[in-house]
Amino acid sequence: MDKKRVFYITTPIYYVNDVPHIGHAYTTIAADTMARFMRMRGFDVLFATGTDEHGQKIAKSAEQMGIKPKELADRVVTQFQNLWSILNIKPDDFIRTTEKRHELVVQKIFNRLYEKGDIYKGEYEGWYCVPCETFWPESHIEDNICPDCGRPVERFKEESYFFRMSDYQERLLQYIETHPDCIKPESRKNEIVSFVKRGLKDQSVTRIKSSLNWGIDVPFDKNHVIYVWFDALINYLTVAGYGIDEKKFNLYWPETVHLIGKDILRFHTIIWFTMLMAADITPPRMVFSHGWWTSEGEKMSKSKGNVIDPFQVAGEFGTDAFRYFLLRELSFGQDGNFSRQLLIKRINYDLANDLGNLLSRTVAMTVKFCNGEIYVPSEAEEPYDRELQNLAAEVVTQVIVHMEQFSFNLALENIWSLIKRTNKYIDQTEPWLLGRDINKKERLEQVLYHLNESLRITALLLYPFMPVTSDRIWQQLGIKDKIEDMVIPEDTGWGRLEAGTRVNPGNSLFPRIEEEDKKVSPVTGESNINIEKGDRKGKMEMESQQLPTISLADFQKIDLRVGKIISVEDVPGASKLLKIEVDFKTEIRTLVAGIKEFYLPESLLGKNIVVVFNLAPATIRGVQSQGMLLAASHGEQVVLLTTEQEIEPGSKIR
Ligand code: MSP
Repeated sequence: MDKKRVFYITTPIYYVNDVPHIGHAYTTIAADTMARFMRMRGFDVLFATGTDEHGQKIAKSAEQMGIKPKELADRVVTQFQNLWSILNIKPDDFIRTTEKRHELVVQKIFNRLYEKGDIYKGEYEGWYCVPCETFWPESHIEDNICPDCGRPVERFKEESYFFRMSDYQERLLQYIETHPDCIKPESRKNEIVSFVKRGLKDQSVTRIKSSLNWGIDVPFDKNHVIYVWFDALINYLTVAGYGIDEKKFNLYWPETVHLIGKDILRFHTIIWFTMLMAADITPPRMVFSHGWWTSEGEKMSKSKGNVIDPFQVAGEFGTDAFRYFLLRELSFGQDGNFSRQLLIKRINYDLANDLGNLLSRTVAMTVKFCNGEIYVPSEAEEPYDRELQNLAAEVVTQVIVHMEQFSFNLALENIWSLIKRTNKYIDQTEPWLLGRDINKKERLEQVLYHLNESLRITALLLYPFMPVTSDRIWQQLGIKDKIEDMVIPEDTGWGRLEAGTRVNPGNSLFPRIEEEDKKVSPVTGESNINIEKGDRKGKMEMESQQLPTISLADFQKIDLRVGKIISVEDVPGASKLLKIEVDFKTEIRTLVAGIKEFYLPESLLGKNIVVVFNLAPATIRGVQSQGMLLAASHGEQVVLLTTEQEIEPGSKIR
């Protein structure tokens, strides 16, 4: 990304008039992910967030609550800090605009611009939107409504200092043209360029104290406080050490990326860039503006009561699942919809099925077949091995490329292509069959090495997105190094997993979420052991009833046979069903059975089971079940019927 190998990333600083919502969580998770990623890329990273505590909006909220603005800020700031800790967000700096260090920098810049003649005293007459903290000239206002947020604006006329922004119009246009990446995405840059071309006006940068006194004092005029946006934008300089620590400032600035929401792009490119130009400071390398989340398809608003509460979502579904969903579901820059069902789907399909099962299968097979130990194969021989290795290398390259573009979703998509390919590799190499043949031991070790190694690379690539989950994968793989100390791409190269590493089986990464079965796609009642809780109650009642007597001829109509389980996998979208391949010697059949709650897939491999061989096939969740396995049930317990001794698959039960 940069030759200097430093990277400074910021989020907006958030207003403290209200509690954190999903928009705040979104940008901050994205920034934390990028900061972690860039650290793993070997960059010296500075990551900052904070709170915007001055201005009319906060003064008004505090007044309504009957408290001082600073008291309100002190209360709300802890909510943001708690949320960041819950979401595993680890900023290097958390700035509050009421801190002294910041006040000094704001006054310094204000003085500098004033001394240069870029700030002058005048009179403001026009409109002001308090929720947006924006001055609006007469020409933009119709029906007393803010063109941005649609809420009522206030009109006032008062003495004010102005920043000569109009003088910088041409310089700004030229700067944007010669720094094509300074505003992202491209479409947003074009909007800014056409806005600037329509003409820049001078910007009011103070409020008279008689109308608002909650702000930083103008250093040379005690009757004025500095406009909240002028104050807030400068936080990015304060954090970087401007005027405080020149060495630090020269290191990190302008290798800076501001992540923001689309609504505050004008402040961050027009006002901010021109303020910096006036202060002879180079603008940041990039301002990236992301889209907005709707809630179940609708704009979020307090009055609708549909605002997504990040504390609630993270509490209910877990931090990593929330982080994953926000970054995977939509392309950074685009608007998107937050829905519970989509979140549950992502958890069940991507996290529980694809990733969780890959880890549990791999670890369980390593324990079963190799006593938990990793053996390094002499050399990969099979085409499947090469394919997997090549894909892993390709995915690492792609993840780097996509992260450089802030395409979090595409980076995740790529990581998932490796996870899916590795699951397929299990099906192709059938380690459970290799495990039965002593002559295939070396091949088995080779296959297990590939599975563990692919998971090691996956965990490394996923770490910036889901730090806790990746660490849990790391623990289960038994790797001793600290995951956060690993470097991409050096440590994501194939073959770093060391011989003698011992896996540690652990809990499943992501338990499936049942709600999906209830709300999204109810389980069909076709399976004999359709272990839905409600069904079971009915079954227990039936258990105690005795069925009418049948003749031997009736019983002989049932073709019961022994089969050997040779593979087991999940049925997509079903939390209780397993798809089981059974070998009957003459043929291999697929069965769908509701026993997932009672058996780990790997523990079923190689078991002899009893199957109703001539039951009419039924399609369950899109999979044809060719027969029915037998199990005994008592209350909540379900056990499979197996043979007392080993016997040829296909044997009849008489
Ligand atoms: N204090 C200013 C920023 C000053 S930065 C120098 C501010 N604060 S805010 O608390 O209102 O934060 C708003 C941030 O949340 C913005 O980036 C905004 O785009 C984002 N979001 C608000 N609602 C959102 C969604 N529904 N979806 C995504 N982000 C949204 O503005």
